[in-house]
Amino acid sequence: MVSQSERNRVVLGITGSIAAYKSAEYARLLVSRGFEVRVVMTESAQEFISPTTFQAITGKPVVTTFWEEANPAVIGHIEIADWADVVVVAPATADFLAKVRMGAAETPLLALILATKAPIVIAPAMNTNMLEHARTQENLKVIAESGVTIVEPEEGALACGWKGSGRMASPWEIFHHTVRAIGDGDYVNKRVLVVTGPTREPIDPVRFLSNRSSGKMGMAMATEAFRRGAEVAVIHGPIRALLPAKISRQEVFTAQQMYDAVVEKVFGEGSEAFDYIVMAAAVADFRPKQPSELKIKRSEQPKSLALVENPDILAELGKRRGEETRPVLVGFAVETGEIEALLEAAGDKLRRKKADIIVGNFAEDAFDLDTNRVWIIDRHGKREEVATTFKTRVANKILDAMKKQ
Ligand SMILES: Cc1cc2nc3c(=O)[nH]c(=O)nc-3n(C[C@H](O)[C@H](O)[C@H](O)COP(=O)(O)O)c2cc1C
Repeated sequence: MVSQSERNRVVLGITGSIAAYKSAEYARLLVSRGFEVRVVMTESAQEFISPTTFQAITGKPVVTTFWEEANPAVIGHIEIADWADVVVVAPATADFLAKVRMGAAETPLLALILATKAPIVIAPAMNTNMLEHARTQENLKVIAESGVTIVEPEEGALACGWKGSGRMASPWEIFHHTVRAIGDGDYVNKRVLVVTGPTREPIDPVRFLSNRSSGKMGMAMATEAFRRGAEVAVIHGPIRALLPAKISRQEVFTAQQMYDAVVEKVFGEGSEAFDYIVMAAAVADFRPKQPSELKIKRSEQPKSLALVENPDILAELGKRRGEETRPVLVGFAVETGEIEALLEAAGDKLRRKKADIIVGNFAEDAFDLDTNRVWIIDRHGKREEVATTFKTRVANKILDAMKKQ
């Protein structure tokens, strides 16, 4: 089987929208991640940005017209259609969408859309009224139904002076969809819930107890699961959640709120059936027993802070799942000290909470970093060490292990 890393040829189509300047950033992002990129531009696109820019970024000639193809040095649109592992059109104009829907082939880009067998990703960009027009919506619907991925435009300020929907999705957003389209899709039709970030336990209205969790490990799990085709939901503590827009998200603050949100999402009325639940949150074990309603003044310094235990979310999930094997439950154990103690604590947590996988990691390797070093321990007694690497790579190792449960 061809692995995802071997499928790295992107044909980038650019049409005539002001958003075309963002395509240069997207092309750079692809090149910096090791993708080979070939750019095809419509005539209108060249009014907005020069082919030279893309030639410089990609190191390859840009296809701009059919009529150079007689020249054997120039790669033709059919050859490019066959070469592509994925075709991404960003930005896509209203005009382009109408023509794709019709099956027109009057430009090299339109022709290669018809000719390619590779997955197609389209990121529209246009004025709000053009986007909301019944004809454009119908075109988008028909194109999406033919199996093309539409990266939904964002809300915001538009170049035409309007404020509303129609702004092209960010280069990162389009990148997530590109990787998802190109990948094996081994998590297609799987539903994954990721719970991540710290919690905040109020002492008074301005102070709280919390921890150093950044939520990055959970966000990497959610993003990678999305890229592998899953439908993903995230419940997160107070962090900046940088996630693909298609991932649903819910913010909570305290451990009790996190517990309530998870229980509601998994067991509540109209709850969703998850195949996998990843508890990557650093949930406070304790909270102040009696938070003050007013700010505690320096002159009123309390002698001590009484704490009570918070509910244990993973243990509750394990208990409620009972003898069932789904959802697969994944927890994290963070420790300080020696490896033996970490492994023992992780194994103990696995049994006590009836989880399928516990990922053991050290506080100094994990908190607020883009990298991590972990031990993945499963209920069959399998143990895998993942040496220090990016959290995205660690996430993929964990996702591999989750699939085997
Ligand atoms: C300044 C300017 C900005 C434009 N921006 C957009 C746009 O964002 N989206 C769109 O659908 N059309 C936009 N258009 C109109 C398209 O460029 C026009 O429909 C063109 O025929 C599209 O050709 P193409 O799809 O072959 O690139 C814009 C036109 C101008 C003059």
